[in-house]
Amino acid sequence: MNRLALTGSLVVVSLLLGCRRDNAEEMGWHGPSATPYAVGAPHYFPPMEVPAFNPLTVEGIELGRRLYHDPLLSAGGPQAGRSCSSCHTQSASFTEPSTGTAILPHVNLGWNSNFLWTGAVSGTLEDIMRFEVDEFFEVDVQLLQDNADYRERFRKVFGTGNITREHVAKALAQWFRRLNSMDSKFDRYLSYTGTLTSQELSGMMVYLSEVGDCFHCHGIPMLTDNAFHNIGLDSTFQGEDRGRYLVTGDPDDLGEFKAPTLRNIALTAPYMHDGRFATLEEVVEHYNSGVKWSPSLDPLMTKLGGNTTLNLTPTQKADLVAFLHTFTDDTFLTDAALSNPF
Ligand code: HEC
Ligand code: HEC
Repeated sequence: MNRLALTGSLVVVSLLLGCRRDNAEEMGWHGPSATPYAVGAPHYFPPMEVPAFNPLTVEGIELGRRLYHDPLLSAGGPQAGRSCSSCHTQSASFTEPSTGTAILPHVNLGWNSNFLWTGAVSGTLEDIMRFEVDEFFEVDVQLLQDNADYRERFRKVFGTGNITREHVAKALAQWFRRLNSMDSKFDRYLSYTGTLTSQELSGMMVYLSEVGDCFHCHGIPMLTDNAFHNIGLDSTFQGEDRGRYLVTGDPDDLGEFKAPTLRNIALTAPYMHDGRFATLEEVVEHYNSGVKWSPSLDPLMTKLGGNTTLNLTPTQKADLVAFLHTFTDDTFLTDAALSNPF
């Protein structure tokens, strides 16, 4: 190859590299210094699908963690004093138990595609994070841009110091893919590294059989079917209680809400979309004897002969509640890597 040809091909190569780099950045390709991160999970978990345009990295997750816990993110900046974690606290499975409102937990949402109680946003975690960043928090990226530490962190993860709301949403999505509960007492039972008491096992039989029929909507391992149901809390529906109907306008969807995960359920009272139940005993009594009929009632709520009661004995109810407590995952609730870094 003569000198001219060599120079020529070098030019071509660097042009190609140049283009690739720009494309790569659009694709969300992480910077040269970011370290790939792989989500590990027990064998009975399905694989988590991570979009190619936002690959998981150690630095991306750490950036998301900081953004999540930083009041700088809220509209009005630090003065407003509100961070994601001000309503979503780790020790309560990323809910806020004291407020009385029904805050959804941040657990295993990397396997989810319907978000919020009514499923107002569906798609990937990037989609729900765009909503949180643009519409809920109205994030002011200039506040991040003015911060040298954030500038450097964004550059490492996304290969650019020019921070956009899209980058913020992507970093938060990466963080959410790290918020995984898979080490509860029940997980240890499923992976043969722990046992359940005889009462918990009896409760499991109620849960996993037609007797209690919980598994249809709160199945293993996510303890949610990621779908919407009217479980008969009311017989007529006004305002917010119309649920999924507010998104679809379909009368069949009246009173339907997303089935939340039951992971760490013992810690996330009050229960239901409006926080109407204070205890798990009240929830179980609802399923046992409180289901109200309406045209959009989920067929699973009606047993043989149109009956909406389960007729559980007091012992079966207590066993079921004991089993629900085995969904508590202390590893997740106390994992230092998930805590507030500030
Ligand atoms: C003022 C309290 C509050 C703050 C602050 C807050 N959230 Fe929430 N979050 C809620 C409530 C309440 C819900 C349930 C609302 C609904 O479904 O309509 C929720 C739901 C969610 C969900 C849906 C979960 C699911 O299972 O579908 C996600 C994701 C979420 N929040 C992320 C965030 C992020 C990210 C931030 C910070 C940018 C944030 N939240 C800040 C109260 C809050
Ligand atoms: C037909 C589907 C379905 C079945 C069957 C079902 N659930 Fe649910 N579950 C839901 C939905 C949907 C919600 C949320 C309803 C709402 O807020 O309006 C829910 C909410 C809950 C909650 C409160 C969650 C929270 O974060 O507030 C608990 C606890 C619960 N269910 C336990 C059970 C138990 C125990 C059983 C069996 C006795 C059961 N569920 C059977 C769909 C179902």
